[in-house]
Amino acid sequence: SWQYSLRPRRLVEYIGQEQVKSNLSIFVQAALARGEALDHVLLYGPPGLGKTTLAGIVANELGVNFRITSGPAIERPGDLASLLTNLGEKDLLFIDEIHRLSRAVEEVLYSAMEDYALDIIIGKGPSARSIRLDLPKFTLVGATTKAGALAAPLRDRFGVICRLEYYETEHLTCIVNRAAEILKVDIEPRGAVEIARRSRGTPRIANRLLKRVRDFAQVTGDGVITDAIADKALELLEVDKRGLDKTDRSMLNAIIKKFNGGPVGLDTLAAAISEETETIEDVYEPFLLQMGFIARTPRGRVATPAAYAHLNIAYEDKGKNQE
Ligand code: ADE
Repeated sequence: SWQYSLRPRRLVEYIGQEQVKSNLSIFVQAALARGEALDHVLLYGPPGLGKTTLAGIVANELGVNFRITSGPAIERPGDLASLLTNLGEKDLLFIDEIHRLSRAVEEVLYSAMEDYALDIIIGKGPSARSIRLDLPKFTLVGATTKAGALAAPLRDRFGVICRLEYYETEHLTCIVNRAAEILKVDIEPRGAVEIARRSRGTPRIANRLLKRVRDFAQVTGDGVITDAIADKALELLEVDKRGLDKTDRSMLNAIIKKFNGGPVGLDTLAAAISEETETIEDVYEPFLLQMGFIARTPRGRVATPAAYAHLNIAYEDKGKNQE
């Protein structure tokens, strides 16, 4: 279930994403004042930044039901029809991975979003006819890691489009401290900063690392998360000082050592490190770009001098790696 205790329930509890939060707050208040359903909202950005959490908060603030599904789960137009016809007035329907809807389902969604109506075809062949079914006014919140992957007609039907950004260390530190309080873990301020700094700007990762560091603190220490315990635990978890995990480093290593620093295409790179292209695209590439460890060129990705420095590889040796 989406609802675990660490998720904030109110907008005021939600840390970071200040612009998104203050805009959504206005739109929610305006919809409430008019007694209308909130316009459809598209949330996009890397995984783990709180898109589902934010959608749940918006439903909560609107005082409506929160229904969750995902693009791949809606296999046929009939699946979508039954979801939509079962909504209550002004309810919020959350579709995660909305870029993965099939064309057929997407077509049905257009009239549902625009006119709160479903056009259904009854029967087959010459006797087939189309009927229009009225739907309750509802709010669709779509989430995607890549807004660019959405068909333009779908994207155009969202009245509100919000991009979530990687969190600053300061905000992540607050998130770690908040989670520690809920989990009743003793954590020193510098321990929280250490975890925050190494969480790839991502609350989901920060919360996971907090739980694992707590395990180390409990078994190898006195239960208190100090910066020393956090550092030791994160090292054992193979999360480095900048928060890169094994896959991040293997990707940088591959670009540098197998492809002479690049440029290299994503598919080639994915194959070289036995990862899915989609995972590289959604998870690893955005973070490494943000950190300045890779750059995009028209011919593919290249490792930056900062990547060489981080991996302790001399940039001057570039070129000598090629057999
Ligand atoms: N837990 C996960 N994301 C959060 C956020 N943005 N604020 C507070 N708690 C969170």
